[in-house]
Amino acid sequence: MTATRDHRRCRAAVLVSGSGTNLQAFIDRQRDGRLDLDIAMVLSNRDDAYGLVRAKSAGIDTRCIDHRGFRTREDFDRAIASALDDSKPDLIILAGFMRILSPWFVRHYEGRILNIHPALLPKYAGLDTHERVLAAGDEHHGSTVHFVTEKLDGGPRILAGRLSVRPGESADELQSRVLSIEHHIYPQAAQWFAEGRLECRDGFAWLNNSPLHEPVLRDF
Ligand code: GRF
Repeated sequence: MTATRDHRRCRAAVLVSGSGTNLQAFIDRQRDGRLDLDIAMVLSNRDDAYGLVRAKSAGIDTRCIDHRGFRTREDFDRAIASALDDSKPDLIILAGFMRILSPWFVRHYEGRILNIHPALLPKYAGLDTHERVLAAGDEHHGSTVHFVTEKLDGGPRILAGRLSVRPGESADELQSRVLSIEHHIYPQAAQWFAEGRLECRDGFAWLNNSPLHEPVLRDF
């Protein structure tokens, strides 16, 4: 993995369906020279995704492919992979991409897809995480960067950002604080990958040649 990138910078493709604040965090870090990867393409399944506007303003190549034009999930995934592969990505970054990926797609980019999920995985896979944390009365909440496998929100965990839930806090307030954490931890994990320090092997994320049995944890 490292060898293929020795001679050039890591190239990433970012997939978005919505606002793209995480994408913006990547763009800002790259602009500041704090991220050693090039965002070669931003792709969305929705033409109204604000993430596409952010990408265009940053001069990044964009594509939009509407999933509704395809008969099966895999047909759509093959079409997006064909577009993504034009940009020769080393890494696929899911940043609020609201489509479940087919096993074919996951295998096509095996060990090279990152996702961020707004919960301290393995708790609260799936949707409505902030509401579920409040309903359960949890003391802590946060977000987790993980490699993508065929198990939804279940791939090897890399880096988690944790906060304390405040008394009386609403789901919206919690969501906004979790999002701010994501803007730190997601580029950090991608930077590790770009540096060749992070890989996915034998069912674990490996950082600096050691398997992570638990994700690296940062308190905010
Ligand atoms: C974030 O909450 C992230 O955890 C989830 O999708 C959301 C994306 O937000 N996977 P944004 O589009 O980056 O603002």
